[in-house]
Order: sequence, then C-alpha cells, then structure tokens
Amino acid sequence: MKLGQLETPCLVLDESRLERNVARMRAHLDALGVSLRPHLKTAKSIDVARRVLRALDDPITVSTLKEAEYFLGHGVRDILYAVGVTPNKFGHIADLRKRGARLAVILDNLDAARAVAAHARASADRIPVLIEIDCDGHRSGIVPGDPDLVEVGRTLADGGCELRGVMTHAGSSYNCESVAAIKAMALQERDAVVTAANTLRAAGLPCPVVSVGSTPTATYAENLAGVTEVRAGVFMFFDLVMAGLQVCTIEDIALSVLASVIGHQREKGWIIVDAGWMAMSRDRGTAKQKLDQGYGVVCDTYGKPYPDLIMVDANQEHGVVALRPGTRAALPELPLGAQLRILPNHACATGAQHQAYQLVRGDGDAISASWPRIGGW
Ligand SMILES: Cc1ncc(COP(=O)(O)O)c(C=O)c1O
Repeated sequence: MKLGQLETPCLVLDESRLERNVARMRAHLDALGVSLRPHLKTAKSIDVARRVLRALDDPITVSTLKEAEYFLGHGVRDILYAVGVTPNKFGHIADLRKRGARLAVILDNLDAARAVAAHARASADRIPVLIEIDCDGHRSGIVPGDPDLVEVGRTLADGGCELRGVMTHAGSSYNCESVAAIKAMALQERDAVVTAANTLRAAGLPCPVVSVGSTPTATYAENLAGVTEVRAGVFMFFDLVMAGLQVCTIEDIALSVLASVIGHQREKGWIIVDAGWMAMSRDRGTAKQKLDQGYGVVCDTYGKPYPDLIMVDANQEHGVVALRPGTRAALPELPLGAQLRILPNHACATGAQHQAYQLVRGDGDAISASWPRIGGW
C-alpha cells in the first residue's frame, strides 16, 4: 500500500523520525545520568511505546486511567498517572493495582492527601504517591516553601500511603522566547523539585523519586543533579510549536495529516483540502509565537515543505491552504486529488483526532503498518 492509495484525511507517522527523536532524547538523558519515564499521552499507542521503551518493564507516564488500563493490558506495569487524583478514581486505581499495575498517583493538597490516605488504610493498599510541586506558577502544585508540603508528606507517610517523592512539570517552558530562557526554566524546574525533596527529607520523610519533565526543559537541561527521572512526551513526534521554540527543526516533526486537494479559489489564492480542524485539531499554538503557522505547514506527499505554504483557515472538514502573507514564493499548481502532508501545531491535539497512525519511513511513500491509538477517558 502507498500513501497515494489512502483515503484522506488520515494521520501519518514517519518511523525514522520517531526513532531519531527517541534516540536523541535517550542519549541526552543518559549523559545527564537520569532515567526517562516517557509520557505516553502524546502517542497513546503500544506500537509507539515499543519504539520508545527499552523493555515493557520500563516506567511510563500517562494522563488518563484509560491509558493506564490500555498499557497494562499490553504488559506495561510501572505507571505514573500524572494528573491530580480525585476520589471518584480510587475504585479504578484499586482495580488496576490488583491486576498488577505498579500504579502511582500525584496530588498537591491536603484534602487529596487525606482522601488517598483514608482509601489506602481502608483498602490495605499502600498506594505510591508523588507530591506535585509548582515550579513556575503555570498550573497546579505546591510551591517548595509552602508549609503544606511537609504536612501533605506527613499525612501520606503516616496515613498508610507510600510517599514516593516529588514531581513537577515546567509548563511555562512552552512560552519561552529563547533557548537561553528554556535553559533557565530547566534550572528553575530542577531547583524547585530538588528543594522540595530536601525539605521533605529534612523533616524525616522519604523522597526517593524526584521527577521533572517537559520536552523543552528536558531537551535543554544541562545539569539534572538531584533529579532521578524525566517525563517527556511530545519529543517523540515533535510539532510546530516545538519547532518555533527551537526545540526541534521542521525536519524532526514525525507526525502529519495526509489531505487531498478538493478544489481551488484561484482569485483568492486558495487551495481547498479535505482536512479541516476535525483532522488538524483547533490548536493554534503557533499564533502566539514569532512565526504563526496557521493550522499547519503544508508539505508534499513525501514530507517536504512547500515554501511559505500554510493552512490559513480551517472549517470542520475543509482546510484553506494559501501562501503566507508577504512571501515571494509562488503558489504550487496542485490539481484535484493531489495529496499534501500538513505538519501540526500540537502533536498531542492532532493525534487525538485520529484512531490510527499510517507508518512511512523517511521520504518513501510505502505504508509499512497501521498502528491503532486510543482516546477518551
Ligand atoms: C505532568 C506532565 N508531565 C510531563 C509532561 C510532558 O510534557 P511534554 O509533552 O512537553 O514532553 C506533561 C505534558 O503535558 C505533563 O502534564
């Protein structure tokens, strides 16, 4: 089967770029002496996981219990569920743990700590818990100097849980405007979580795991002393937001949406394709970057970008492809049915719109496999 035979729109994954991205991140983290706990929320696919993990016994991170369920079903057991836990999930977590998942959870407040501890006692299950630390004011977490940190730690450790450590996610790195700023953010991320770990230890509490992670900070971290593991996800595929941050190049982006030309509005300079926001997602992450890529960068069937050709607008199932304003490039002549590959702003969001990856290698157009992916909760 060739790309040209596929019905569009569909999701294409370049396996050679995937392998290269994974090898680069692994080599970087190996050199820094920390382990990788890949975040599989981007991929949601066991076939991708097999290219990222060295063995099924390796640790992973997930963003939903459905992912935990799915990866456990494929033999992956060391799982961190990295979204703050709530009591309505305790039953599912207990079930996954009974079925052999070494599932750990995160939380960032006393109410959650008390609830998890009460559940651990009632079910005689020492649930491993990481305390989420706020390293950048981006989202959730306890700031390292907050007295709640030790109180949460003690509530867990004395309450029947396994206090496994601390974790943080430098989500602000997605808004950095230079590589120097990402490097500074990586230091800030590390310092916050290491300080929190030391605070817990000074209070006599255990803290074996010190976990950080975002693709920009993982990519540019230069010193991870005191950190034990890195969680990164989008690095496997990369996307235009990461390219805009200089975390990768356009040539590293492994994911694209295959689309077909369905018509033209020549007087407007538009090429209309059969991939709209349903196929690309509504994510406009590059809108706030220096180079706005619209809904995606348009490439030929083999993945080579056309100069300054982007998807400027999207309806549900229609994409409007046009030249970037101000460019001197010429609009390519693309007849009805011509296939294009569109690189996404945000790989996690675009992937979530699809049920499978069609695998290609490099600039070839042969489909070597179709890998299913999961969605939902
Ligand atoms: C808790 C947590 N850890 C790690 C990551 C990985 O970040 P990235 O996709 O930038 O690698 C995320 C991403 O949202 C996250 O929420």
